[in-house]
Amino acid sequence: MRSLPPLAGNGVTAAVHSAGQAREHDSAALHVCGAARYVDDLKEPRDLLHAAVGLTAIACGAVRSLDLDAVRAASGVVAVLTLDDVLGHTDIGPVFPGDPLLAGDRVKYHGQALFAVAAETQLQARRAARLAKVEYVEEKPLLDPLAAKAAERFVRPPHHMRRGDAQAALEHAPHVLEARQFVGGQEHFYLEGQVSLALPGDDGGMLVHTSSQHPSEVQKLVAEVLAIPLAKVTVEVRRMGGGFGGKETQAAPFACLAALLAHKTGRAVKLRLPRADDMRLTGKRHPFHNRYRIGFDESGRLLAAQLEVVGDCGHSPDLSDAIVDRAMFHADNAYFIPDVAISGYRSFTNSVSHTAFRGFGGPQGMMIIERAMDDIARAVGKDPLEVRKLNLYGGAGRDLTPYHQKVEHNLLGELIERLERSSDYQVRRTAIRAFNQASPVLKRGLALTPVKFGISFTAQHLNQAGALIHLYTDGSIQLNHGGTEMGQGLHTKVAQIVAEEFQVPLSQVSITATRTDKVPNTSPTAASSGTDLNGMAARDAARTLKKRLAEFLAERDGVKLAEVRFERGSVTVGERRLGFAEAIQAAYFARIQLSATGFYRTPKIFYDRDKGEGRPFFYFAYGAAVSEVEVDTLTGEYRVRRADILHDVGRSVNPAIDIGQIEGGFVQGMGWLTTEELRWDDHGRLLTVGPATYKIPAVSDMPDDLRVALFDRPNEEDSVYLSKAVGEPPFMLAISVWSALRDAIASLADYRLSPGLDTPATPERVFWACEAVRQEKQP
Ligand code: MTE
Ligand code: MOS
Repeated sequence: MRSLPPLAGNGVTAAVHSAGQAREHDSAALHVCGAARYVDDLKEPRDLLHAAVGLTAIACGAVRSLDLDAVRAASGVVAVLTLDDVLGHTDIGPVFPGDPLLAGDRVKYHGQALFAVAAETQLQARRAARLAKVEYVEEKPLLDPLAAKAAERFVRPPHHMRRGDAQAALEHAPHVLEARQFVGGQEHFYLEGQVSLALPGDDGGMLVHTSSQHPSEVQKLVAEVLAIPLAKVTVEVRRMGGGFGGKETQAAPFACLAALLAHKTGRAVKLRLPRADDMRLTGKRHPFHNRYRIGFDESGRLLAAQLEVVGDCGHSPDLSDAIVDRAMFHADNAYFIPDVAISGYRSFTNSVSHTAFRGFGGPQGMMIIERAMDDIARAVGKDPLEVRKLNLYGGAGRDLTPYHQKVEHNLLGELIERLERSSDYQVRRTAIRAFNQASPVLKRGLALTPVKFGISFTAQHLNQAGALIHLYTDGSIQLNHGGTEMGQGLHTKVAQIVAEEFQVPLSQVSITATRTDKVPNTSPTAASSGTDLNGMAARDAARTLKKRLAEFLAERDGVKLAEVRFERGSVTVGERRLGFAEAIQAAYFARIQLSATGFYRTPKIFYDRDKGEGRPFFYFAYGAAVSEVEVDTLTGEYRVRRADILHDVGRSVNPAIDIGQIEGGFVQGMGWLTTEELRWDDHGRLLTVGPATYKIPAVSDMPDDLRVALFDRPNEEDSVYLSKAVGEPPFMLAISVWSALRDAIASLADYRLSPGLDTPATPERVFWACEAVRQEKQP
């Protein structure tokens, strides 16, 4: 166990140090025993019905006729729902319209939900859903996002950011390079699929248990499809079996369908998608087509860049405005570009609507500039690490991002230097060159890549949070806040913060399910900001209660307010020491309110999207990774021999959980860039609908040697206990694996060529890149 010096700003002398300690996830034991209850594990109500969804068999066209007689007649079927049965809104687009709850007469993607059925058992519902007779008028689907761009078929308008004059600077640059890059999408593959359980009330209201990162949005959409007030809908989320962004907006349709069926039948309805339906029906990480045109000098220093990102958004806007924006916000990653222009396009395709996924477009954007760094290095004959260091933000006049936010408190220079040393980068670089010279087939590669990730929702209003704390007369504390638990340890961290404030053991704080009737109007748990926002709100509530208690005790005992101190599980009032429970009981009898809400909104942030200027991020989280790979250049197979990570989480609230997030993020990022390949056929049908064809990393894919360390430095911005968000940033550390693969392939031409390597860099792609380099061709 690691512990940190007393935390600043809480007026504590003898701290319990709940916050800052490596504590296990509050549900760790339940997780490993299989005893943690997810929505599908809840005790089922007596009258429960099970629902299934009927999917379209074409990607684009019209529904000429929909005959559901056989579905209705199937054994066990109680109700069937089509678009006509929706009582209120039929469009559940989260930010912009465009997401019909069920396809009406227009089909926009293969596997779109067409109707839903409720039956006595799940098997009956699924069997019945297959009995629909549908006639289509099929049209040719639009599947290529670049063709969509050429035809200006966008789900949202293009957006541009610029600083200086990139065009002019490119004309004068001594060296200019251009490249295109495809960056693949990614299936979330949360272990728990989408699931909702709707329980109708006797007042026309609805209680919904759902696996959603955004209970307040589910509440709103359920109310809207039922045409009832939001106040009549309560949404509860105790935990999810992973969300990763896939349950930010896309849990809502299934909650709405369950609620509508529950309303229609007057019975409880559970909708749990089978894995294959889940993969067909829900959006993924956006595939991107990127392009760069860069200018640089002999030393490899960037002078100018024109960058373009084209996101394949699928059939509707969903969150694509913000996701492509975030790709643009991260197309510079850690590097200063003196004259720069970035364009972002949101292509329509006849596909599921692609959505949030860890990094939220940031990873796809970052891939451009990391590719550029490698390419520059090969062009000027330097180690890519040297070129990366040369181009980092920092130094006079080199701190302004393309969106005009200043990069303050930049840790990367020091962080990279430390990692370069601790990973033995230079020694291993020499050893790898020697190895490659002696080894004609097996080739090793090495790469260090940094991450600079902006923390805050770029939609300003989402940067707020609420909390609710009850103190009971036995001294136990019940905590509720607006964030949801998806395995990332948010509830543990926020409970630590509350325990720290009251100076009581962590076990005294009870964690409760997220509910829209306890803390209302919440933001999604996303953008890595769960602890930043909800931790602050909970701290605010705790401080309100502490102040109330302290004022009461000071007045009662005639001491100064400053003489009331919460320490070591008790409360000291002047010379007297009370047990925590004793103090609460005294307050209760004196009729002091023992419940408080808390609130927080992030300061300093704003973004003028019309100008493309502002300070969208409260601060940046930093990190870097060194990865070493070995490639069989005759088959394209490879493995990661070692990865060293140094990552900045500010002053960690919980180092154990943070390290877990870093390891998990890195491996999930590796999967995205290496083995996880989504395949659609020419008709727009997803072929990879299960683990047999869609390859997430297995235990055997872990780096042989994985070393993770925290860069222990308090946040310079006033975040909760000066910690930093950790959920998404480490995902992008995996770019080092992809860059190391390119390094190994480049060794085939003595590092003179810089092989293109689209992602996922499957063994097949790596093989063809090796072939191309052997033939001295640009792949
Ligand atoms: N970790 C686990 N175990 N499961 C998840 O679903 N989601 C990630 C990240 N880490 C996720 C996770 C994503 S996409 C985000 S935005 C953050 O956690 C959200 O939680 P936080 O804001 O509390 O970090
Ligand atoms: Mo995370 S992609 O912001 O849910």
